[in-house]
Amino acid sequence: MVLFSPKQISASQRKGPQLRCAPAYTILMKSPITVSITGAAGQIGYAILFRIASGFVFGEDQPVNLRLIEIEPGLPALKGVVMELDDCAFPLLREVVATTDLDEGFMGANWALLIGSVPRKAGMERADLLGINGKIFTGQGQAIARSAAKDVRVLVVGNPCNTNALIAMNNAEGIPNDRFFAMTRLDENRAKSQLAAKAGVHCSDVTNLCIWGNHSATQYPDFTNAKIKGKPVTDFISDTAWFEGEFIKTVQQRGAAIIAARGASSAASAANAAMDTVKSLITPTPEGDWHSVAICSDGSYGIAKGIMASMPIRTKADGSWEIVQGVPVSEFSQSKIDATINELLEERDAVKDLIPG
Ligand code: NAD
Ligand code: LMR
Repeated sequence: MVLFSPKQISASQRKGPQLRCAPAYTILMKSPITVSITGAAGQIGYAILFRIASGFVFGEDQPVNLRLIEIEPGLPALKGVVMELDDCAFPLLREVVATTDLDEGFMGANWALLIGSVPRKAGMERADLLGINGKIFTGQGQAIARSAAKDVRVLVVGNPCNTNALIAMNNAEGIPNDRFFAMTRLDENRAKSQLAAKAGVHCSDVTNLCIWGNHSATQYPDFTNAKIKGKPVTDFISDTAWFEGEFIKTVQQRGAAIIAARGASSAASAANAAMDTVKSLITPTPEGDWHSVAICSDGSYGIAKGIMASMPIRTKADGSWEIVQGVPVSEFSQSKIDATINELLEERDAVKDLIPG
């Protein structure tokens, strides 16, 4: 937030929304951005809305409009959520719209967070949700194309998120593919946390952790390129059997372990990972590092073009992103990447009826 003396404010600057806070100073505010969130009355919705409205994600000088989308049965709970947003009196929150109408919900959206969908129960794989959730993303993709802002970016969280994002992207005619993302950051955060615990360091010491492929039990958390305090992770952990066995399995099965323990799927950590993803996509990536998010493959690393696969991504100074090239892929890593990409191809084939010709 920038403080200016009134004398420093030009006529054109005065046109922007301003907050008067004291006679001598005016806080100059940016124009609001619009964030649309589906499933806003759900677990993840409840854990994310208030932090976005507080300025945690887009910054303390960035006003926000929230457009909250639910299905009819979710509306009474959403009404309560809106009452709570009111009761927070957030200085940055400008407008809140709660709706079941997709065009109204995505109107002018700069960011669309597609969370609303059914979570899995114990004993299910995420792909078992495709038949229930996949069709949600056709209408949402179409509505985003009709109604969102020209610069819209779309993050799909609802599972199975890679293939749901594929469906939304292919139904959003006219919106470039590079605006669509599916969330694998929760897996990255989980993997960093496991490595840090094993090495006896803080999780912020772990960098260069890439999740390859699908947000599923085939995902590959790539320990071979991970670093701790800037050095190869193997300088700190020499237990190959642990890396190739328990580590990978723990990360792949963490969602199921949380469902078994909580009786409900991860929510606060999922909301946190969604915010991490957005922040990483709007902030230049620290030199030499990368972050994980599923994007539309351009064929890099031999990954089939057009599927939504998680890879190492860097955000550039101009706000665009690129796939980090040249990350070494060992024979072991390649076999794991092949397995998760094959699963994504099978999921794509299973939803071909939802993807326009
Ligand atoms: P939840 O059941 O608590 O909430 C989902 C909300 O979505 C409900 O309020 C429901 O009414 C609403 N909804 C359902 N269909 C909708 C539609 N067509 N349009 C708008 N809203 C709709 O579930 P949750 O715990 O918030 O999880 C939401 C999704 O996120 C699930 O699919 C879950 O598996 C997934 N998830 C993904 C990750 C990830 O890492 N990618 C992590 C955690 C959860
Ligand atoms: C997770 O990874 O926690 C989510 O995808 C929820 C799930 O079904 O595991």
